[in-house]
Amino acid sequence: MLSLFKPKLRLSDLTENGLVDIHSHFLPGIDDGSPDVETSINLINQAKQLGFKEFICTPHIIGGMWDNNDTTISNAEQKLKKSLDKDTILSYGAEHMIDHEFAIRLKEGDIVPLKDNYVLVEFSFLAMPNFAMEVLFDLQVAGYIPILAHPERYLYLYKDFEKFEELKKAGCLFQINLLSLTNYYGDEVNYLAQKMIDKGMYDFLGSDIHAQKHINYYSKPIKKKNLPYLKELLHNNSSTFSELNNTVNSVKNHYTK
Ligand SMILES: [Fe+2]
Repeated sequence: MLSLFKPKLRLSDLTENGLVDIHSHFLPGIDDGSPDVETSINLINQAKQLGFKEFICTPHIIGGMWDNNDTTISNAEQKLKKSLDKDTILSYGAEHMIDHEFAIRLKEGDIVPLKDNYVLVEFSFLAMPNFAMEVLFDLQVAGYIPILAHPERYLYLYKDFEKFEELKKAGCLFQINLLSLTNYYGDEVNYLAQKMIDKGMYDFLGSDIHAQKHINYYSKPIKKKNLPYLKELLHNNSSTFSELNNTVNSVKNHYTK
C-alpha cells in the first residue's frame, strides 16, 4: 500500500550535497563558539558527516567584546590544526561587526577577509547602526565585497523591508543561515528568510555553527520547494570559496530590481 506520507526533506539532505561553509565559530577559545580544541574537533567531525566539505571559520570581531585580529585568529587556527585530521580543509576569515571600531580597522587596513576580497559583516541584533551604509560604501571603495551575515535575523527591519533592498542595491551580498530554514530562530526569522528566498536576494549560505545545539537541528525538516534555489547557493559557495577548484567567480545574483 502506498504511504500517504511523503518523506520529509531534512536540512541534512541539503548539506549532503557538499557544503563549502563560509560562516562558523569552530575555532577554539576566541569567541562565543567552541571553547576548546576537543569541542572543535567533535563539532567538525559531526559537520563532515552532514556533508560539510570545507570550512572557513569566522570568529566574531566586535569592539570591546571580541577584539580579535588576524594574529589571534591565525593562532587559534594553528592550535586546532595540530590536532585536526590532515585532510580537513579549513581556513579562516572573520565575522566583523559593523560598529565604530570597524570603521577604524578599515582605515588601518585591519580587516580579515574570508578569501580574496570578500568580507563577512554583521549588524547588531538591536538596531542597524545609522552609519552602516556609509561604512559599507567605504569598505567597497577600499576594494572589498561585503557579505551581510544572516539578514533574516535582523528583525528590527521586519517592517522596513526596503532597507534590505537598499543594502542589495548598495552592493552588499547576502548570506542566509541554514538554521533559518528551520524554526530554530522562530517564525518571524523563517518568514523573512522565505521572503528573501522568493525574491532571490541571497548569494551564499552558511552554517553559523557555534555549538552542539546547532548541529542537532540538521535533522529538522525544511521546505522542499526551496531545494533548487538552495542548491544554486551551494554552487555559489563552492565556485567562489572552494580551495579545491579554481573556477572563476560565478556568483549568480538573482536579485534584479
Ligand atoms: Fe556568526
